[in-house]
Amino acid sequence: MCSHVLSSRRVSSFSSIRKFEVKQWIKKISSHASSKKVTNLNEMILSLTSTIICRIAYGRRYEDEGVERSRFHDLFNECQAMLGAFFVSDYIPFLGWIDRLNGMHARLNKIFKELDKFYQEVIDEHMDPNRDSSKGEDIIDVLLQLKNQRSFSFDLTINHIKAMFMDILVAGTDTTAATTVWAMTALIKNPRVMKKVQDEIRNIGGQKDFLEEEDIEKCIYFKAVMKETLRLHVPVPLVPKETNKTCIIQGYKIPSKTIVYVNAWAIHRDPEAWKDPYEFYPERFLGSDIDFLGQHFEMIPFGAGRRICPGMHMGLASLDLILANLLYYFDWELPEGMKKEDIDIQMLPGITQHKKNPLYLYCQN
Ligand code: HEM
Repeated sequence: MCSHVLSSRRVSSFSSIRKFEVKQWIKKISSHASSKKVTNLNEMILSLTSTIICRIAYGRRYEDEGVERSRFHDLFNECQAMLGAFFVSDYIPFLGWIDRLNGMHARLNKIFKELDKFYQEVIDEHMDPNRDSSKGEDIIDVLLQLKNQRSFSFDLTINHIKAMFMDILVAGTDTTAATTVWAMTALIKNPRVMKKVQDEIRNIGGQKDFLEEEDIEKCIYFKAVMKETLRLHVPVPLVPKETNKTCIIQGYKIPSKTIVYVNAWAIHRDPEAWKDPYEFYPERFLGSDIDFLGQHFEMIPFGAGRRICPGMHMGLASLDLILANLLYYFDWELPEGMKKEDIDIQMLPGITQHKKNPLYLYCQN
């Protein structure tokens, strides 16, 4: 279902939104350059990816809507916190009363109700016959059409739509933002790679005022940088799965219906699969056919198999456009007194692996 809604045809149909938002955003960063203001890349990038996803998913642009914007961000942050939180009942079901005692259960219920109300408002707005349709089709429109056309072998309900809406908001914003921050972190720590990738991009961009999606397709080294970032800083390090039958893994019997975590972080650093696995070395992908489309099990940033990330192409399209234009427009420097060795790669706990301390950099046009 999600792969239907996030198909590659749909990815191209949202390209004008991505372009508009990235252009506006580059202008904001240019203002930091002219006023010599340091840029908090974590904050700036997260704000851009959430704007892109909100517009694609339900046609809303929060840029100038102060109160609504902060309502959305509060909901979203609490939702992320709950998704990454530890619930005793997930691991020891008969001790579930502890979750009630320590308030986790009540907190989960509260955010569930608030999110449900928010989703219902969005859906009602989309079902309003007087709604302004000039903004174009978004994902909620597509889901409502599918519901009305009865396109599936089961009845698509409003609850299904709410669940998919939440999946897309949660899965689409954070992953793209975290990856872009990690790419910039890796590049500022590796000036050789930064120079090489900027030379390539600027050569291909020439005198253009914006690097388009088609231009980026020609940037071979840039693509290798993106792959190396997704290898070394995989944004979803532990991919949860449920076994659908009993199986034996390295002599251990795993019963059916057990939650198992595929450790992509460790797989991406396996010395049997990767030479110098801890080194950020994009050249390893030049002339190699290893990709992240789920066919090479040593590289699985989007998972693999039937549940592979359905938003992979949507995510890559945004990632490419954001990172390539950041590198095309600006030269990046560390704040005064800081050395590249001072930039840490500590991570925040959670489903998506964010850089713990924000990346602050100076930029120059
Ligand atoms: C760099 C960007 C992204 C990365 C690294 C990423 C990674 C992943 C991974 C590892 C999974 C689990 C796959 C599995 O179980 O095998 C997943 C699931 C998912 N992703 Fe992404 N993702 C990204 C971007 C996006 C975007 C932009 C969207 C939506 C617009 C999205 C929507 C989803 C959804 C809905 C699921 C759940 C699918 C299911 O439960 O079957 N992702 N993603």
